[in-house]
Amino acid sequence: MNIFQQRDLKYIWHPCSQMKDYEDFPPVVIERGKGAYLYDVDGKSYLDAVSSWWVNLFGHANDRINRALSAQAQKIEHVIFANFSHEPAIDLAEEIVRITPAGLSKVFFADNGSSAVEAALKMSFHYHQQTGRSGKTKFAAVTDAYHGETLGALSVGDLDLYSKIYKPLMMNTFRAAGPDCYRCPYGENRGTCNAECFETMARMVMDHADEICGVIIEPLVQCAAGMKIYPPVYLRKLRELCTRHHIHFIADEIAVGFGRTGKMFACEHAGVTPDIMCLSKGITAGYLPLSQVVTTDEIYSAFYADYAELKAFLHSHSYTGNALACAVAREVLHIFQDEDVLARNEVKARMISEKAAKWFDGHPCVGEYRQLGMIGALELVADQKTKAAFDWRKRVGYGIYRIALTKGVLLRPLGNVIYFMPPYVVEEEDIEKMVQVAFASINQYFDL
Ligand SMILES: Cc1ncc(COP(=O)(O)O)c(C=O)c1O
Repeated sequence: MNIFQQRDLKYIWHPCSQMKDYEDFPPVVIERGKGAYLYDVDGKSYLDAVSSWWVNLFGHANDRINRALSAQAQKIEHVIFANFSHEPAIDLAEEIVRITPAGLSKVFFADNGSSAVEAALKMSFHYHQQTGRSGKTKFAAVTDAYHGETLGALSVGDLDLYSKIYKPLMMNTFRAAGPDCYRCPYGENRGTCNAECFETMARMVMDHADEICGVIIEPLVQCAAGMKIYPPVYLRKLRELCTRHHIHFIADEIAVGFGRTGKMFACEHAGVTPDIMCLSKGITAGYLPLSQVVTTDEIYSAFYADYAELKAFLHSHSYTGNALACAVAREVLHIFQDEDVLARNEVKARMISEKAAKWFDGHPCVGEYRQLGMIGALELVADQKTKAAFDWRKRVGYGIYRIALTKGVLLRPLGNVIYFMPPYVVEEEDIEKMVQVAFASINQYFDL
């Protein structure tokens, strides 16, 4: 253990970690980054195949973003966002309204993904309280959902690993069996199905429509559940159902927004406009914490009244609308425009799928390779015929992660799912390395 690691472990409690694991596998202490690569204090490089928790879009230490950040720092770093505003936030909100699905017209700022989800849930609940449907006090969601780790966000999520112990603290959520395309109980195929699995959501919503204020969903990819990809028809059905029952369709685009799925926002694949859309992560391309809740005039209007009516949405965070983060996000959107990012990503996404096929077709441990845009995932299985998963206690993904790090690639599997979610600046040789190292690491782990 080097001196940085010793000092780290003396003082720091890391997220999403069993700290005891660090005894024989201390944290990698990063000194700098450039493009798709990270460099540790000993000079070893790591290809960041997970975009540092799905946030980085245009590489580490990006020159354009650095300049925008530094220029903004010379002007104003942060100002209270109640009664005050600033140009980066105004420019950003205007542009977000322009590029999000038609009908979304107002932007509420927060400062991380979970806090955007909290604000969205409160906004939806509050709207119904103020529009004569006060019986609508609960939310609906799907199995395997992940919306963050504050208590409200955990309540609508469904990954026991993160939430089970906190159940006594959480609100009750209606939960429908979500799409599970790899193990489809209807024997259908995500390429051709009509989202037959939607029937459980439809039934649940019809049975409880008077109690439900909103349905929250991760459009097209349930990332934390293992990059579970499902077809757009599910979202179209959900849109229609929500409209029919005065229920908000809340799209959590925190992980999939900003080009990850091949379109700027995943909802575009289905041609739907949600009532509320949560954005974060890629919005600042991995530079600074920032999030947004984007909504409609109709929802906004329910809060707009004389002060004494006490209808205002009084939700706030100290760092709401941080000027540095907004200036960075504004530059991120300029980069999307100037550098034709979505078109270039199409080529890179094709490279990822070709290389995945080259290395993994016929691999004995791979149950499924699935991909949407710049998200690719290999689901490893103990038995390809039965699709039986490896016992979680084996920590298969963790073992592969450790091997891949020694080979210079940061893959951070989700259970038995090894995924690729690189920054958009990866070049062909980086993609080859990413997929080849995944292959070599899996084979080394299984002794193949
Ligand atoms: C879909 C989704 N929603 C919400 C969150 C929570 O965001 P944050 O980690 O910034 O709180 C995440 C984080 O991974 C996410 O993937």
